Amino acid sequence: MCCEVKYTLENDIIEYIEECKKEEHPESYLIAVLHKVQGRYGFLSEIHIDEVAHILEVPTATVYGVATFYHYFKLKPRGKYSVSVCLGTACFVKGADSVLGAFKSELGIEMGETTSDGLFSIEGTRCIGVCALAPVVTINERVFSNVSPGQVPKILHDIKDTD
Ligand code: FES
Repeated sequence: MCCEVKYTLENDIIEYIEECKKEEHPESYLIAVLHKVQGRYGFLSEIHIDEVAHILEVPTATVYGVATFYHYFKLKPRGKYSVSVCLGTACFVKGADSVLGAFKSELGIEMGETTSDGLFSIEGTRCIGVCALAPVVTINERVFSNVSPGQVPKILHDIKDTD
């Protein structure tokens, strides 16, 4: 008797992947599938990547390749407050690197990491289209403009207070 594979992905997502598998080039649905998984769980865990590969019958390396190629996909859980420092040209020229450094030293984490209390994570983004406000930082839905390194402790303090 063969054993049934038990997945941690929820049934509706498994059904979606199985639908994609019926198409002519299932691997071309990989981005859509990963969007769905990240939309549900907030990031792409190792186990979910394995499960997607297994259900869609594509190599795990292919799934990882797509997940790591696109900046949008996250392989680690983000903090409750996701700090994004724009590293586009205009922001960079106006000191985004120093702003990023201030967030890293204030929170004690590197880019792509999350604080141990799960509150903050830091990432860099490409231009978000508001270059006139450079340097720009977003924290979840909020946009902070003309940010200087000296403002970072207050920004972090205030964001927790306004929640
Ligand atoms: S470069 Fe930062 S918003 Fe355009």
